[in-house]
Amino acid sequence: KRDPLVLFMPSGKRGRFPVGTPVLDAARQLGVYVESVCGGRATCGRCQVSVQEGHFAKHGITSANDHLSPLGPKEERYDRVRGLPEGRRLSCSTQILGDLVIDVPQDTVINAQVVRKAADERVFDRNPAIRMCYVEVEEPDMEKPLGDLDRLKAALAAEWHLDDLDVDFHLIPKMQQILRKGEWKVTAAIHKDRDDDRARLVALYPGLKNEAYGIACDIGSTTIAMHLSSLLSGRTVASAGTSNPQIRFGEDLMSRVSYVMMNPDGREAMTLAVREALNGLIDKVCADGGVSRTDILDSVFVGNPIMHHLFLGIDPTELGGAPFALAVSGAVKVKSSEIGLPMNEGTRTYLLPCIAGHVGADAAAATLSEGPHRQEEMMLLVDIGTNAEIVLGNSTRVVAASSPTGPAFEGAEISSGQRAAPGAIERIRIDAETLEPRFRVIGVEPWSDEPGFADAAAATGITGICGSAIIEVIAEMYLAGLISEDGVVDGAMAERSTRILQNGRTFSYLVHDGEQRITVTQNDVRAIQLAKAALYAGVKLLMDKQGVDHVDRIGLAGAFGTFIDPKYAMVLGLIPDCDLGRVKSVGNAAGTGARMCLLNRGYRREIEETVRRIEKIETALEPKFQEHFVYAMALPNKVDAFPHLAS
Ligand code: FES
Repeated sequence: KRDPLVLFMPSGKRGRFPVGTPVLDAARQLGVYVESVCGGRATCGRCQVSVQEGHFAKHGITSANDHLSPLGPKEERYDRVRGLPEGRRLSCSTQILGDLVIDVPQDTVINAQVVRKAADERVFDRNPAIRMCYVEVEEPDMEKPLGDLDRLKAALAAEWHLDDLDVDFHLIPKMQQILRKGEWKVTAAIHKDRDDDRARLVALYPGLKNEAYGIACDIGSTTIAMHLSSLLSGRTVASAGTSNPQIRFGEDLMSRVSYVMMNPDGREAMTLAVREALNGLIDKVCADGGVSRTDILDSVFVGNPIMHHLFLGIDPTELGGAPFALAVSGAVKVKSSEIGLPMNEGTRTYLLPCIAGHVGADAAAATLSEGPHRQEEMMLLVDIGTNAEIVLGNSTRVVAASSPTGPAFEGAEISSGQRAAPGAIERIRIDAETLEPRFRVIGVEPWSDEPGFADAAAATGITGICGSAIIEVIAEMYLAGLISEDGVVDGAMAERSTRILQNGRTFSYLVHDGEQRITVTQNDVRAIQLAKAALYAGVKLLMDKQGVDHVDRIGLAGAFGTFIDPKYAMVLGLIPDCDLGRVKSVGNAAGTGARMCLLNRGYRREIEETVRRIEKIETALEPKFQEHFVYAMALPNKVDAFPHLAS
């Protein structure tokens, strides 16, 4: 007779195991991650699984119960004291008796405070860099002159197979007290960045410590976003964001590099500013999540190269000019206390690798999140900021570059441009007949027949146009025939509408005439043309390198990508032609990549290896860039066709 077949969901991993095998052991053997802190003593409750009876029916088995051992005394005690939710079992204490489909819940929250589900919560396979290992240590004995640490190590080796363990020195002076306080029962926090790394003891707690937390953070040049997650359940318990205080030293990246070059203390001031903001955010997520700062044992950070360098206290001047040399391109692993982020003394910080001098750890994290390197299709990933970071590839080959788009897409250099804030126009439509605009304004109740669009004449309190709407208004002007393919605002249209205003030799379009006059000028159109031509030329260069004339999928990352309407991006020729249904905003993909690395160390290895493989293209050195740029100044492009716009 064959051994029972066990299938684990959601991973789908399966295998046959002899009758009597604990479910936890079967999971381990198949590489299915199931948390266990108490080492199978049925006290931590972290190893819970549930049995999917529905699947049994499908497999022709009607009852699950006789395929699983009944509740034993240890599990019964746990149920009595802590309560096992309906349908849940402790996998350490449950044996396989027959064929089974086991569901590994992704929300095994035991001691939990109230857990808030983050809006963009995605479920990842878990395998955090920190593991909590409860052990019972042999008491000191005159006969055996072994030190406390050595007996602790022996217990960890025997129960958790942690041979050859490194130990953080800060623990050694405290160890005697912790062991005695816990009456020789302690929980060890073991850190390993990669499966093949040596294990290291980084924190030690008396008794059973059934929780550990980690933070994942995206340091953007404008905003910083942080998530606090339970490393044992994977749930995000709190999220917070703040604006990057370095803005007071310079709006965009290059002005911050200039600040460092001009001011002897500039680098220190900006490092201090970002670390202060991060410490504030750590306090905030801890307060919101009801978590003590010292319970954070791991942290992952991403950012563009300049943010990355300033955060680590590295002078970014070299990134300000060719050859744009990074001080360090590989992943950085450091004790958090060494970079001004005191949490637990043993807390570690991991920074994802940077791809190139202008393509940072944020682009690496976005790549990890969207996975162009994991698919057959040719995927374009674009993160638009002051610099556009561009990644193009598939499982065979990935290339990356950055393009100097300048701040126009963010509303800077645009006469009526502003940040997305109340009073900013965020959506706009122009009637091709009457040339009258309708728009939606942030913070203003929408009214009009078409939901979300205001009647321009009646709107009040309008202060400007935000970045995503600038793309839209210029695309709408082009579609309404107000702008030529060369980007010239057509003065002849003044005959048809009083909204066409003359300023010397050029013309502009009056969007709104209220307390503030909001116009789109010829210079505005030019600024957007220059920015979009730089972006498109960078993309084309990468397409040349890949030898492709179209892309299968496009992911638009970052705040800008979230709000931009793909159709308008294509009307203006920011991005190459693509099936519009396959152009997606991927939200804060960099933040997602950081969370993946926090919750599963396997992703750290994956991105380190992927970044090593990515071919870095320096747009400034490519003779074709200029040619692509010139063609891309036209709307949508002088030479490239956009068949998907017609359909
Ligand atoms: Fe702790 Fe099962 S491993 S209860």
